[in-house]
Amino acid sequence: MTKDALVSAFAGESMAHMRYLYFADVAEKEGFKNVARLFRAIAYAEQVHASNHFRALRDLDVDEKAVAGAPFGPGNTLKNLELAIRGEEFEVKEMYPVYLEVARFQGEKEAEVSFRYALEAEKIHAQMYREAKSYVEKGQDLPLDGKKIWICPVCGHTYIGEEPPEKCPVCGAPREKYVGF
Ligand SMILES: [Fe+2]
Ligand SMILES: [Fe+2]
Repeated sequence: MTKDALVSAFAGESMAHMRYLYFADVAEKEGFKNVARLFRAIAYAEQVHASNHFRALRDLDVDEKAVAGAPFGPGNTLKNLELAIRGEEFEVKEMYPVYLEVARFQGEKEAEVSFRYALEAEKIHAQMYREAKSYVEKGQDLPLDGKKIWICPVCGHTYIGEEPPEKCPVCGAPREKYVGF
């Protein structure tokens, strides 16, 4: 069961990565430069999650097909943000809490850590997308005021600030590791 959860989470994160990169291009074209940056940054966080799940999978020696069920479709930035929020909320409220329990129950440590990292980041993503949406609804870009969007390359923790945090609050990685967008 942990194996199935990892395969499905890998597929979902891989698709989210690509979907956000595409949404970033749409936002860029519509003049929402900072929303585009947010999508690009979070696309990288999803890549980190997909990679973590993939690594955890290798130890389980799997060979199966992955199907990603994620909200998707052509649209403008407002619609894309709504899709993104829906996707993140599904992961936060349903998907990762269940996967986390499965991994814990089966004593799969690496999968447990991988799911926990993703769950913590997705909570932040949902919140950031909600904030971006509140501006785009008014026809405005997300204000970043010289701040950057920082991603922890170990766990995908996402943070907006002039500097990354001293230490990642989720995985403990040092400030220097953070990647800025
Ligand atoms: Fe996310
Ligand atoms: Fe981290």
